[in-house]
Amino acid sequence: MSEAALEPLVIGPYRAALPVIQGGMGVGISLSSLAAAVANEGGVGVIATVGIGQQEPDGRSNFVEANKRALAREIRKARNITSGIIGANVMMALSDHAEHIETCIREEVDIVFLGAGLPIRLSPRIPLNDLNHIHTKVVPIVSSARAVDTIFKFWWKHYSYVPPAVVIEGPLAGGHLGFSREQISTSGYELERLVPDVLTAIAPWEERSGHHVAVVAGGGVYDGVDIDRLFRIGAEGVQMGTRFVTTFECDASEDFKRAYVECSRDDLVIIDSPVGLPGRAIRNAFVNAVSRSQRRPFHCPYKCLKPCDNKTAPYCIADALVNARDGDVANGIVFAGANAYRSNAITSVAEVCGQLRRDYAEAAGRGTLPRSRS
Ligand SMILES: Cc1cc2nc3c(=O)[nH]c(=O)nc-3n(C[C@H](O)[C@H](O)[C@H](O)COP(=O)(O)O)c2cc1C
Repeated sequence: MSEAALEPLVIGPYRAALPVIQGGMGVGISLSSLAAAVANEGGVGVIATVGIGQQEPDGRSNFVEANKRALAREIRKARNITSGIIGANVMMALSDHAEHIETCIREEVDIVFLGAGLPIRLSPRIPLNDLNHIHTKVVPIVSSARAVDTIFKFWWKHYSYVPPAVVIEGPLAGGHLGFSREQISTSGYELERLVPDVLTAIAPWEERSGHHVAVVAGGGVYDGVDIDRLFRIGAEGVQMGTRFVTTFECDASEDFKRAYVECSRDDLVIIDSPVGLPGRAIRNAFVNAVSRSQRRPFHCPYKCLKPCDNKTAPYCIADALVNARDGDVANGIVFAGANAYRSNAITSVAEVCGQLRRDYAEAAGRGTLPRSRS
């Protein structure tokens, strides 16, 4: 049986020997420790910027500045422990998303991924006329080929910019999802259907810009067999979140990681988040209570999410995510992908990446289908 090695993922000037982007996970689940560990393995390590300043002394009173300061610090910390590719994930639903992107560009992260909200019109705080020349590559995360059309058209017309990659995230992902509850539970939106549509959508933009656009698929990718399946239909990289949570290097508390190891398939449920999107999480007392419309009154001195009505929201999602991350899991939300139940131990990032390489080689060696892109 012949064994195939994973091909590198090329995103503009960056070449990831391991074609895996570690999905940005907030609040505080993927910071410098996890991101640097994945980058050291040859993947793209991603710091999630949402709520990053929560632990700063002025995190509530001066939240925009606290976020900027904490984000800059995490980027520098990651740089001190890796020379690999470091990205950041910015949720467009954040009220201060422009400051996050601005900080990423100033700190020269290699790639900034824009998700959780359609990144169409970007803030003038960002060097919009210079996107082709700055160090940081700006890459959108989408959940449909239609979103690719809309974003690429707008960015080309207004910024003369075609991104070097696009991440297509399917409905099996963890955290906030770009699908309605109905779409999540019906067929037709599987990643395997979305990838070919996105390849078709990017083709004219590759021609127009004269450069390649890598398609990266995420949401429910857990092992080398998943990677092989997606590469056979034209993806050149995968984005993986859940698989990296149960690692020593992941920045979450031990209790957060244990919730993954201990959950069963039935514990993975869809909740309504004040972000205005459904999200996938592990069922616990808090999730049960808010799903029964029980309110958890809170005081919000800022408004971190644009779509959140902090006067009427039934609970504060940021507080719930921070509680879980810090280990108060019973009073928090543990976001997780549909495959979280497959985790059975906490291990190292190196072990996970080695396993991915081995499983991929075996699956690719077994396969008979030709690859659709070469
Ligand atoms: C705990 C957790 C937090 C997440 N937070 C974010 C986030 O802040 N921004 C974002 O765009 N995606 C977020 N995601 C999605 C991941 O970046 C990733 O793309 C997705 O989980 C991939 O699916 P997988 O978990 O099945 O691998 C989160 C996912 C998880 C599991």
